[in-house]
Amino acid sequence: MDKQIIVLPGDGIGREIMGSAKLVLQSVASEYGHRFVFHEHLIGGAAIDAYGTPLPEETLDACMQADAVLLGAVGGPKWDQQPADKRPEAGLLGIRKAMGLFANLRPIKGFTSLLGASPLKQEVVSGSDMLIIRELTGGIYFGRPSERTDAGNAVVDTLFYERQEIERIVDKAFQSARLRNKHLTSVDKANVLESSRMWREIVKEKQKEYPDVTVDHLLVDAAAMKLITQPDQFDVIVTENMFGDILSDEASVLTGSLGMLPSASLRTDGVGMYEPVHGSAPDIAGKGIANPLGMILSAAMMLRYSFGLEQEAKEIEDAVDTVLEQSFRTADLAKEGDRVVTTNEMTERVIDNMTTKSVAN
Ligand code: NAD
Ligand code: IPM
Ligand code: MN
Repeated sequence: MDKQIIVLPGDGIGREIMGSAKLVLQSVASEYGHRFVFHEHLIGGAAIDAYGTPLPEETLDACMQADAVLLGAVGGPKWDQQPADKRPEAGLLGIRKAMGLFANLRPIKGFTSLLGASPLKQEVVSGSDMLIIRELTGGIYFGRPSERTDAGNAVVDTLFYERQEIERIVDKAFQSARLRNKHLTSVDKANVLESSRMWREIVKEKQKEYPDVTVDHLLVDAAAMKLITQPDQFDVIVTENMFGDILSDEASVLTGSLGMLPSASLRTDGVGMYEPVHGSAPDIAGKGIANPLGMILSAAMMLRYSFGLEQEAKEIEDAVDTVLEQSFRTADLAKEGDRVVTTNEMTERVIDNMTTKSVAN
């Protein structure tokens, strides 16, 4: 298979972990005889420094032609005082919107070997395996107006959804539930927000088309509590943009580290952007200690969802499992007795386990 992959390392640890993903993909390519060509472009703070804008036209053009995009992370204190449209985050929101990537899939699995890494009790974390489906191109993130008014003494952000935006993400969630344990939890704030009341109505309408899927509705505050008290009660969660952002960072606690979580940002034709859930982690950037596994697992999701390479994706995921079973941990996960490794060492361990396995087969 011959694929052109657009690579957007971004800022902070984004650059460090992107190197890991490329090495892992190169290893897959040589093992299976694929050809992956990486085209690197700037986004976020790096793009502001070079071009004065977080999403340069040439980056956008390259992504619009792409089969798949890999993104590290954007942002950092250096650019925090910039006006809204000149912040690194505006570049990320802009690329998601321009590519129409409305469905953000965030799988969260409590790895058996990481049960002790979570601050939650093992019996709570045990058995948790869920998929958060976050609406990604609408809601309050993209509301107009979003501005200061009254000479700077008042402020407005707008939460806006069109029916079809909700319908398509709810369809995606039902379809995903069918491929898993057929249990969908829709999370909203229908006791307060009109947008949530319409969201809930649409889920109920759509349910008629998917009678084999069991549906629950949870208010977001209760969902936040249940996520870390009874996480094994969830299969697929579907929710609007900002609720999904917050709940997925919370759910990362089940794995022991935000650095573990991958994601796929998709539309209906298989084109996607693959990005870890975490940010640019300015507190550890440049130290070579970031956990690359969320990024590496995002690359595996790319192989699965954009290229249909299930076996290759599974091989990466199995190698990650094995490395964790061998007690290798980056600093974010390490407990006494673990074998603490750097970003690069962790990447090597994953690659070694992939190739060792293929030789053994
Ligand atoms: P963050 O996710 O960058 O970091 C939160 C905490 O988790 C930090 O202590 C960090 O060290 C740790 N962490 C995150 N990823 C890690 C990894 N791979 N390995 C080890 N530890 C890891 O969130 P923040 O500090 O609130 O935000 C920093 C910047 O990142 C901000 O500018 C924010 O806007 C941006 N951000 C970008 C994205 C993205 O590009 N997708 C996502 C979230 C935040
Ligand atoms: C994420 C991030 C982004 C978001 C920010 C950086 C715009 O937190 O990908 O989860 O809120 O979507
Ligand atoms: Mn987030």
